[in-house]
This record gives sequence, C-alpha cells and structure tokens, in this order.
Amino acid sequence: MTLKDQTIVVIGGSSGIGLATAKAAAEEGAHVVITGRSHERLNEARRTIGREVRAESIDANDEAATRRLFEELPSVNHVFVSAATVTLSSGITTETSALHPAMDTRFWGSLYAAKYASPKMPPDGSITFTSGISAWRPRPGASVGSASCGAVEAFARSLAFELAPIRVNTVQPGAIDTPLIDSLLGERAAGLKEMMAKRLPVKRVGRPEDIAEAVLFLMKNGFTTGITLTVDGGNMLMS
Ligand SMILES: NC(=O)c1ccc[n+]([C@@H]2O[C@H](COP(=O)([O-])OP(=O)(O)OC[C@H]3O[C@@H](n4cnc5c(N)ncnc54)[C@H](OP(=O)(O)O)[C@@H]3O)[C@@H](O)[C@H]2O)c1
Repeated sequence: MTLKDQTIVVIGGSSGIGLATAKAAAEEGAHVVITGRSHERLNEARRTIGREVRAESIDANDEAATRRLFEELPSVNHVFVSAATVTLSSGITTETSALHPAMDTRFWGSLYAAKYASPKMPPDGSITFTSGISAWRPRPGASVGSASCGAVEAFARSLAFELAPIRVNTVQPGAIDTPLIDSLLGERAAGLKEMMAKRLPVKRVGRPEDIAEAVLFLMKNGFTTGITLTVDGGNMLMS
C-alpha cells in the first residue's frame, strides 16, 4: 500500500512523534491534516513539514470540534492519534480532578477520533493510537497514566473487530527525544537521557522518526490489526 494521495489525519501533529509522522507521510505524497491546540506550534510545524498541509487548532478532548473536523473531510484513509496529556502523579494521593486530563485526552480523544473518522474511511483504512511502555512496565506514582495507555491498547483490540475491515492498532513508544520528555524531565533532561541511552540495548534514546516509521508501517501493512507495536530500543528487556 502506498500513502500517495491518501488523506491522513494526525491528532497532535504539531510536535514530536506526531510531527515526525505527519512529515514522513507528506514526504510519501499524502494529503496531511494535523491538529494541536497551539496555533504557534501548528504554524511552526507547517514550516517544518515544508509541504502542503492543513492545520487545525482543536483540543483532542473537544468532541464537537473533532466531529466537525471529520465531517468537513470528504474521506479519510488513515488516522494517527498522538495527542495526550501525560500525568506522572499518583492515582491515590493526587486530587482526582487533576488526573482526569490523562484519560480525557488519551482515551476519550482516541475514541472521538475513531468514532468520527471511521464513517469516512474506506475498508482498507487504518487507525493508530499511541500508548507507552508504562502500560506494561508500571512505575510507582504514575498509575493513571499507565491506565490510560492500557485503555487505548484494549480499545484498539476491540475496535479491530468492531470496525473491521478497517484496521486498528496501537504504537507503544519507549523513551523518545521530544519536547514532551524535555518538559517532563526539566533541567535534568540531558543527563537522564544520556543515562538511559547507556542502559538501553541500542545505546541511544529514540527519535520521533523511529516511531513515525512504525506508524507508517501500521498504516500501510494491510494484514496488521489489533496489535500493540512496541518500539522502545529494547527497554522492555531491561530488568
Ligand atoms: N516522548 C516519549 O518518550 C514518549 C514515550 C511514550 C509515549 N509517548 C506518547 O507519544 C505521544 C506523543 O508524545 P510526544 O513526545 O511526541 O509529545 P509532544 O512533542 O509534546 O507532542 C504532543 C503533540 O500533541 C499535541 N497535543 C497535546 N495535548 C493535546 C490536546 N489535548 N489536544 C490536541 N493536541 C494535543 C501537542 O500540541 P499542543 O500542545 O499545541 O496541543 C503536540 O502536537 C503522547 O501520547 C505520549 O504520551 C511519548
């Protein structure tokens, strides 16, 4: 399958993994639509992609706006949902309302995208969600973030039946060098990334392009559905 002239929507396509995926798809000749909240980031992303790309400022939590986005598109071949709010706080000791954004963006945002994109998709279309290795390798104090990752993986497996023959998968990144990681790790980011690189079997942290390549595989491989594709440089092997 080729992505040339296919319409690809990347929810959260103005930075990091989403941006790398949008760029890779555009380079293969796809018509790309990216979303994100910040106009500034979207404009910068359009410059980075350097090709014709439609950019829409939409919060992934906004069901009505997500519905309008897909209603306006004549057809959609592939959707990649990268947007998520990452919560590193404890599910038990954190104020409950502060935990909601994690599920609201990753789980409900994925559901809205699938719900409103799928009626516009041909039988060989695909949807890819994003989780993270914390779904399988939990850390103390990040239980809701882990649960949001596990939720989209289970949701994708169910949708692979419900929306068949449209394919539904999840990409599960390990540590990837993006603005998100830098903001989560703060001034310790450089040192922690170096330490992680030394420990990983591949001896480097991931690049957004590593995940983009995996997402393009999930879009193009017509025999792959209901899977969680781990792309983590061997992180899962480490004790
Ligand atoms: N980087 C890693 O090491 C890593 C590891 C495991 C999993 N992941 C997952 O991979 C995905 C992408 O992460 P990244 O590292 O590429 O992050 P990033 O560089 O911060 O990019 C996130 C993108 O999503 C958009 N976004 C965030 N919240 C949104 C919302 N509520 N509505 C619409 N757009 C939203 C951001 O734009 P705006 O902020 O302008 O909205 C941006 O375009 C996330 O789901 C993350 O949890 C990342």
